[in-house]
Amino acid sequence: MEQKKSSNVVWHQPTITKKDRERLFSHRGAVLWFTGLSGSGKSTVAHEVENKLHGLGCHTYVLDGDNVRHGLNADLGFSADDRQENIRRLAELVKLFADAGVIVLSAFISPYRADRERARNLLPEGDFFEIYCRCGIETCEERDPKGLYKKARAGEIADFTGISAPYEEPDMPEIVIDTDRYPVEDCADQIIARLKDAGVLKP
Ligand code: ADX
Repeated sequence: MEQKKSSNVVWHQPTITKKDRERLFSHRGAVLWFTGLSGSGKSTVAHEVENKLHGLGCHTYVLDGDNVRHGLNADLGFSADDRQENIRRLAELVKLFADAGVIVLSAFISPYRADRERARNLLPEGDFFEIYCRCGIETCEERDPKGLYKKARAGEIADFTGISAPYEEPDMPEIVIDTDRYPVEDCADQIIARLKDAGVLKP
């Protein structure tokens, strides 16, 4: 993991910077990193936030764990090592989006604290917002939108987060949303308010 195999590669310094690109937009480039159990509402809330940001004229993109695993990360499974590699690649990807001046919203379970910390450390200070979609596993299991908890309980899926694989809660996330207590719309509004406070959205 993380072995560099290429040699003789030299970093090319771009002439147009993140700041230059941001001048064209009404906002900063940033990463909204949603984390939480499967069924905790990461994608749903991320898309709602994207709708609202789009309405405000922001340049946005949602990256969804399931979708990325169809292409870029189709070679990875759900062992701890594969999840680490999944998150490593996706962290590099969201970094590029933010550098392009986009507000990128990522919805990956990202169950390991260390993997999320590595993602955070790739971004400039203040550009990374860890958003914990807090939701009891009972509720996630009740929702079971993809029928995966049922399969995991029946022993048909190995290493299922929350059942047979761990989820490490964030220690100090920038934002916590209680998706089992508040409607999606309210959760999205809390996030937008926080982005305004943090100066991601310019007045
Ligand atoms: S992560 O742990 O590596 O961050 P990621 O967000 O990419 O996971 O993918 C999670 C999605 O894959 C879940 O929403 C679910 O639909 C599906 N999935 C399939 N198998 C598993 C599993 N063993 N554990 C968790 N999610 C799984």
